[in-house]
Amino acid sequence: MELATTLTGQTVQNRVREIGINANHWYAVAWAKELQSHNILPIMLWNQEIALYRDSQGIVQAVEDICPHKGVALHKGKVQGDAIVCPYHGWEFEAGQCTKIPYFPPEQKLPRACVRTFPVRERYGIIFVFPGDPALAEQVPMIDIPQYGDPDWLMVTIGAEFQAHYTICNENTMDVFHGYLHENLQGWFDPVLLKLQETQDRVRADYRVSYEGPMTKFLGLNETSQATTRTISVNYQYPNYINSLEGNSLKGNSFLYLMRLPISPQKSRSFSLMFVKVRIPRWLTEPLRPVLEPVIRNLFFMRFLRQDIEMIESEYAHYVSDLQRRYVEVNPAIIAVQRLMVRQYEQYMNSLPATQPTEQNGNQPPAPKTESRILDLAN
Ligand code: FES
Ligand SMILES: [Fe+2]
Repeated sequence: MELATTLTGQTVQNRVREIGINANHWYAVAWAKELQSHNILPIMLWNQEIALYRDSQGIVQAVEDICPHKGVALHKGKVQGDAIVCPYHGWEFEAGQCTKIPYFPPEQKLPRACVRTFPVRERYGIIFVFPGDPALAEQVPMIDIPQYGDPDWLMVTIGAEFQAHYTICNENTMDVFHGYLHENLQGWFDPVLLKLQETQDRVRADYRVSYEGPMTKFLGLNETSQATTRTISVNYQYPNYINSLEGNSLKGNSFLYLMRLPISPQKSRSFSLMFVKVRIPRWLTEPLRPVLEPVIRNLFFMRFLRQDIEMIESEYAHYVSDLQRRYVEVNPAIIAVQRLMVRQYEQYMNSLPATQPTEQNGNQPPAPKTESRILDLAN
């Protein structure tokens, strides 16, 4: 559906900061390199504690990080073959089942003590977990990153952590009008929202932006450092972003895949893969790649990101300190992203059997439920 691109003032309703997630999606939870063999990596996905480890084949396994015996964190234990072993009494678990209690005689029947397992996949140097209904995991597509591993592209990995609700972070990614913040880094300027489309699980906004300075050359927008105008497509494909920036005819577009991990209502993380077309001969780029990547990340993207983190955390801190306060938004693309996040959450909640708790997130901070707080963003 095509939406109007006119910028008009709208009051933001806090409903969007009170929602949980649609758990029936694949979520990026860790960089693959964070998980070495024999180690156990604890992660948190929307308050769900999960322990990741590699089995004897090196394949990643994901289990709830709580021992069914007495509730100890399993990540404090160890990996033995294909089993995760609890540090307290040494109970062993494989494929979710208790397979050994070290102080039981061999002939004694083991109690029924199960640990929840999660569908998990390792792809693009990232570990993904499906926290929802495991029966749906196979049919829900994962993010597709065709440039990954292609030597014609230079890939830069960028990770960040935010003390903020994931909806605030996602609005920042859609918000091309904050080029003002990055002015001193020679970011972009003169943004115009050209086109806005919304479907059930996607919001796509095309903006026209202008650049000048070294960034234009680096991103392949221009041969010189002169000001140039290009189109940026920001595509929120729940729960990730796929953005592309139109380049010149020689370099093609550059792409940013941003995967969001909602850790808890107060904390989020992001895993980004940026792809820039390289024109230097391959024999030269290959040895340079390990050097180029951290330099570009630290001198370039991290400086932008640090400014964003400061704004996002300030926004969240003020939201928490006064839940009654209203803010004004003018970008219809942000309103569309809010509507999509609310719709996805409600869709998930409606899919749960009636016996499940009605609030998935146990959201913090507690929000007073007054009539004026609720806006039906699904309309
Ligand atoms: S608490 Fe895990 S084995 Fe006892
Ligand atoms: Fe930014």
